[in-house]
Amino acid sequence: MMFERPRRNRQSSAVRDLVQETQLRASDFVYPVFIQEGTSTQTPITSMPGVFRYTLDLLPDLADTLIEKGIKGAALFPLVPDAKKNALALEAVNADNLICQAAKQLKTTHPNLMLFGDVALDPYSSDGHDGLVENCKILNDETLEVLAQMAVIQAESGIDCVAPSDMMDGRVGYIRSSLDDIGFSDTIICSYTAKYASSFYGPFRDALESAPKAGDKKTYQMNPANRREAMREARLDSEEGADMLMVKPAGTYLDIISDLKQQTDLPIVAYQVSGEYSMLIAGADKGCFNYEDAMLESLIAIKRAGADIIFSYGILDIVDRL
Ligand code: PBG
Repeated sequence: MMFERPRRNRQSSAVRDLVQETQLRASDFVYPVFIQEGTSTQTPITSMPGVFRYTLDLLPDLADTLIEKGIKGAALFPLVPDAKKNALALEAVNADNLICQAAKQLKTTHPNLMLFGDVALDPYSSDGHDGLVENCKILNDETLEVLAQMAVIQAESGIDCVAPSDMMDGRVGYIRSSLDDIGFSDTIICSYTAKYASSFYGPFRDALESAPKAGDKKTYQMNPANRREAMREARLDSEEGADMLMVKPAGTYLDIISDLKQQTDLPIVAYQVSGEYSMLIAGADKGCFNYEDAMLESLIAIKRAGADIIFSYGILDIVDRL
């Protein structure tokens, strides 16, 4: 005798739909957008087939597509020409830099699209590190002032949510006070709380030519072996005033997403990073699986683990299937 037969609830697509526990919606997603100087150019990213770097004049069309599909947010990442990179990352605090120009423009044309601004020095620094470097060391406290300045000029340009991805200690509190001091108490902070020192950022660093010139990021990004440490980062970021907590990468850190979801009361953001996207494209290219099916499965797993918001390069490919 078998009273329990789980297969009963799987026998037709109707019953499968009725008992489905997790649903993806277009409004779960934020689309990361690489931007570059120039006009009328969209440059393919070699290591990310299907992903491009856009000049600012092309952004309104892209934003139209996002809004049309029901996607609520875009995260802007600038390619900074080598000539504008230096050890102090001065371009990061130039109020007329690429990300500020993009934000001003998009806030005018698409006021309802939520804009996320990356706050970290790596694309602007000749060292390619997220903080200031002195004698091969990444300086923490000296970097905070630069990050806060970045957050301030981005907020002033129309960025709705600043997203510190640098992993310096104390930066969320420092940025919060700097924003509040100038009256920007509504600017949201999405903290990259549990950002691991990951191989999966490779294609992103290609796209922005932002790889570290020397050393690695292990003195500030987290050790992939650590789980409890993410709780410590989450506690600090919450206490310092973060509005959202991010886990990054996503697919290989589902336990961390689940932990933070259960142990904090803040929305959880998961970043399906460049290498995760490129792996799925490459796998499909080799005939291992269907790209769209594999992308959907990866995204639903990230949401099932507890993500409220997902950053993904693949969203435009599958949004029509949601
Ligand atoms: C910048 C930053 C990185 C990513 C987002 N913000 C790269 C890094 O820390 O080296 C990676 C995103 C991706 O791989 O898609 N600090």
